[in-house]
Amino acid sequence: MQKFLAPIQHARGISLIAAATTLFLTVFLTGCDKPASTPGAATGPIKVGEFASMTGSEATFGQSSHEGTLLAVDHLNAAGGVLGRKMELLMEDDQSQAGQPATVVRKLIARDGVVAVLGEVASSRSLEAAPICQQSQIPMISPSSTNPKVTAVGDYIFRVCFIDPFQGTVMANFARHTLHLKKVAVLTDVKSDYSLGLAKFFKEGFIADGGAIVAEQNYSSGDKDFSAQLTALKAVNPDGIFVPGYYTEVGLIALQARQLGLNVPLLGGDGWESSSLIPIGGVSLEGSYFSTHYSPEDTSAAVQDFVKAFRAKYNETPNAMAALGYDSAMILADAMKRAGTTDGAKVRDALAATKDFQGVTGKITMDADRNASKPAVILAIRDGQFKYVETVSP
Ligand code: PHE
Repeated sequence: MQKFLAPIQHARGISLIAAATTLFLTVFLTGCDKPASTPGAATGPIKVGEFASMTGSEATFGQSSHEGTLLAVDHLNAAGGVLGRKMELLMEDDQSQAGQPATVVRKLIARDGVVAVLGEVASSRSLEAAPICQQSQIPMISPSSTNPKVTAVGDYIFRVCFIDPFQGTVMANFARHTLHLKKVAVLTDVKSDYSLGLAKFFKEGFIADGGAIVAEQNYSSGDKDFSAQLTALKAVNPDGIFVPGYYTEVGLIALQARQLGLNVPLLGGDGWESSSLIPIGGVSLEGSYFSTHYSPEDTSAAVQDFVKAFRAKYNETPNAMAALGYDSAMILADAMKRAGTTDGAKVRDALAATKDFQGVTGKITMDADRNASKPAVILAIRDGQFKYVETVSP
């Protein structure tokens, strides 16, 4: 018996190895390259992936962006879909955590077979996922990541928003020429590509405008106590403080600055925009300003139609991330229609050729670096609300 059993076990061993090898090849090779389902398959819904911070420290970013994206998909499907097919949005929560974007985007591409990816809001998380989309030849559109490095990852990576060299200059000019500030301090989140980039571009712009950067301090995302940095900033007596961070830390920084008797205006960028900012920072934020992508007070038909539809669906007023999320899905659909296919390379070419697309956040034209050149909006915080101040064109 033994003699007969041995070859049988051996054969089983081989088939197990073969099965394991097939599994390995399927999971890893298709995982790194093309999805299991054919991207150009012309039947069934068009699967589009989205990755967003639905929970964690930037939860409002993902939630707002997702609501806007979903509204766009509703509108597209109500109007007959894309290429005669329904668009299906597969959303993954990356929990605002480093490491998660790569995991969930790999899953969307390899397991779910999405033909394009929408996301992320935050630049560091877009930067983490972009190389995976690029290698897989799956177009990725970030609705709102503004750091220049994001689209520099490769020719499959796009965004529908402006970039931080522009945003930083806009706030520098506003600080120098509208608020007439001369001496500004900067408080940067060194864990965030967005914060590091925006701080740099603001400083360059403010100095070019004849202002002085009188102090610089750093913090890390997740910090709760900023008293050491704020005490150091107070000592140099600045006219204002530029805080290019995200809302959770910005709210706490505003509170602690006022507690220390530091009462100069705080300035920031789009990372301030959250329905949680004022609940965290309260009256400490009065008289502060930040730049962003859009204002619901804009009277144009594109904005007002969107605001109306968004309110009808969610019973709340859409912010910039919601508007950009909406635009990201609409731009993708437009490119697929012009390409006549969902094939990655052809959609990439159509996206690159996007010209004068009327979005909610303005006219969108992709430049040679796959960025959109668009106006910025400055908002003030007054009476516990975001108030439109002005629009600045590039
Ligand atoms: N621009 C920010 C970033 O790149 C993200 C953001 C966009 C935050 C819009 C709020 C509103 O990280």
